[in-house]
Amino acid sequence: MKERFPMFATKPGLAYLDSASTTQKPDVVLNQIQNYYTNRNSNVHRGLYPLAEESTETYESARQVVARFLNVEKEEIIFTSGTTEGLNLLSESLLRSNVISPEDVCVITELEHHSNLLPWRRVFSKVNYLEVDENGDLLEGWEEKLKAFNPKLIALSHASNVTGAVHPIKKIRLICPDAIIVLDIAQSVAHMKVDLKDLDVDAAAFSGHKIYSPMGIGALFVKKPLLEKLEPFKVGGGMIREVRKDEIIWDEIPSKFEAGTPNVEGASGLARAIKFVEEIGFEMIREIEDELVFDLMLELRSLENIRIFHSNNGVGVVSFYHEKVHPHDVAQYLGDNGVCVRAGHHCTQVLHRDVLQVPATVRVSLGVYNSREDIIKFAETLRECIEFYSKN
Ligand SMILES: Cc1ncc(COP(=O)(O)O)c(C=O)c1O
Repeated sequence: MKERFPMFATKPGLAYLDSASTTQKPDVVLNQIQNYYTNRNSNVHRGLYPLAEESTETYESARQVVARFLNVEKEEIIFTSGTTEGLNLLSESLLRSNVISPEDVCVITELEHHSNLLPWRRVFSKVNYLEVDENGDLLEGWEEKLKAFNPKLIALSHASNVTGAVHPIKKIRLICPDAIIVLDIAQSVAHMKVDLKDLDVDAAAFSGHKIYSPMGIGALFVKKPLLEKLEPFKVGGGMIREVRKDEIIWDEIPSKFEAGTPNVEGASGLARAIKFVEEIGFEMIREIEDELVFDLMLELRSLENIRIFHSNNGVGVVSFYHEKVHPHDVAQYLGDNGVCVRAGHHCTQVLHRDVLQVPATVRVSLGVYNSREDIIKFAETLRECIEFYSKN
């Protein structure tokens, strides 16, 4: 699959194992962007000439692709710059519209990315945490705990960006039939079929750059009845029907949430990336990933002084902590030798401090371009690194 990604032609032999941060882009997505600027570029919605209509068509058909991919309606998809913007837009709009109030009960989990933690910490006076174990799975007894909280809103990730753990969303819905459930699908959307209708959540956000599309584009889904109650967060051009000196009528959904010139290039690239993923198919993606995770776990488990953080029921993300070599030294050594992994707290300080109890971890995360050779190169270089630091 590497031949579909021009980056690997310019950097042959590179073992790119940092797809949870961002993915490389396939040829078809790069061509799509080039094609958009060569043949269709113009601002959307406001022009009456053919080029403007083509640009609008590009943008709106991309929305349709995203909606179909997630099995929701087109008007329920708001284009954003990514997961972070989507969750900020949602939390602020819910508050501004009095759908939630600061005193309501909010539940999140201990492993949330800061993008799905800080927005809720800001709009609620307090957030309650469901505890997880070191592999990111919810601790036994979580069902009773969740029920007892009786939350107004639950915000949680579908898949963890540290351990890959996939949360039991349908079970959560059964336990809290009336709660507003917000799903951070940033780490699941490129790895497994995400059917939002089937999961029955009220809102979900993701970033295009984690699913082989350009940076700066993403989408927020909000169920129509809830979306219709919401006040916009950003205001400006392109989102009103009428402005008078003392009166404003917002545009229809979802346009009323998309103030300003949108990222048409990004939306177009995202739609193409989604088609690329669909052409491969999630069955194949899971097969590739499961095999590589198996190999990776075997390699890591063969080492001493190592703690591995990965859920058996997870996507292709594995983190670890070596007791003798600092995570940053590991990542630097690997990086200098053509292996890209990430070290740090991965924007999950609560998880690292309170659950894993380590200052940082090294994270290995997979994409469709990874191969057994990448895992071998990673494991060999990691062994060299450990040996190097044990002597120095
Ligand atoms: C689970 C999760 N949520 C949210 C984000 C934030 O995504 P972005 O920086 O693209 O907005 C990330 C990015 O790493 C993530 O892994």
